[in-house]
Amino acid sequence: MGVMATIIGSERSEAGLPAGMDILACGGSALDAVEASLRLCEDNLDDHYVGTGGLPNARGVVELDASIMIGSSRAFAAVGAVKGYAHPISIARAVLERLPQHCLLVGEGAELFAEEQGFERAQLLTDESMQLFRDGLLPNVDAVEGENTVAAPGDNVYRLAAIDLVRRFRPHDGPWGTINVIALDESGELVVGVSTSGYPWKYPGRVGDSALPGSGNYCDVRFGGAACTGRGEMSMRVSGARMVVDALARGEAPNDACRTLLQEAATLADTFRAELRTLCLTPDGRHGGAAGQPGSTYGVMTTARPDVEYFRRIVA
Ligand code: GLY
Repeated sequence: MGVMATIIGSERSEAGLPAGMDILACGGSALDAVEASLRLCEDNLDDHYVGTGGLPNARGVVELDASIMIGSSRAFAAVGAVKGYAHPISIARAVLERLPQHCLLVGEGAELFAEEQGFERAQLLTDESMQLFRDGLLPNVDAVEGENTVAAPGDNVYRLAAIDLVRRFRPHDGPWGTINVIALDESGELVVGVSTSGYPWKYPGRVGDSALPGSGNYCDVRFGGAACTGRGEMSMRVSGARMVVDALARGEAPNDACRTLLQEAATLADTFRAELRTLCLTPDGRHGGAAGQPGSTYGVMTTARPDVEYFRRIVA
């Protein structure tokens, strides 16, 4: 029997999973499915953690990270801290296909490459995300400067207030964070894609785990693909996605493999380590997910089940 095409994604990936499933159901590639899914998530203006409408950095500028990894070749490509382009996942794919000597472009270089490849510039900061940025910052602007000044976004007052806010960042209620999508196509190819606007109010130039192979994204078609969302610094410190795939390679079941990462992360000191979440998909279509806090889910679609089915992540 052949492989059953499957696509899974983290919270809020349902904005894109059906489009990815349509591609897989027609015999399309996992690479196309992952890119198409994430592009729609990047276009979702209600989502403030990815693409257009994502929350900006400390200077009020949206900076995006994205990566894509192919399970059969372990080819990896990513962009980090990209400003002014709406679809970082497609720029990452362009790096993969048109600049295969490189795995990661950041900042100005990534933007130059995007321009040369014909990507159109876009305004990423929406009125709503700007308002959320200002609302989050206002008490801190006061705290840092000692006066109730609303300075112009981008100036030093904002930058210092944002750094203070990042230091005191509070865990969120409800689904938030980076979007992970993993697809298995009927040829047996497995692809992992990740896209994010990163940590809200982050220091300009901060790149998270989403752009780093082995941290936020890892894929080996022999064992599985894994991705992380939430507190990227934790998955960077333990090489999280690679740790999940290594556990699958040792024969651990998908949920157990995800738990292995979270338990390792929990051994490290970090106020927000419980914010880390992960999910994985194996080449035979098994999947799992784990989170440091209860109430987290992931979505699954297969050719046999065309609606998004939600699975609870185990709490590790
Ligand atoms: N996990 C996404 C980030 O930390 O940027």
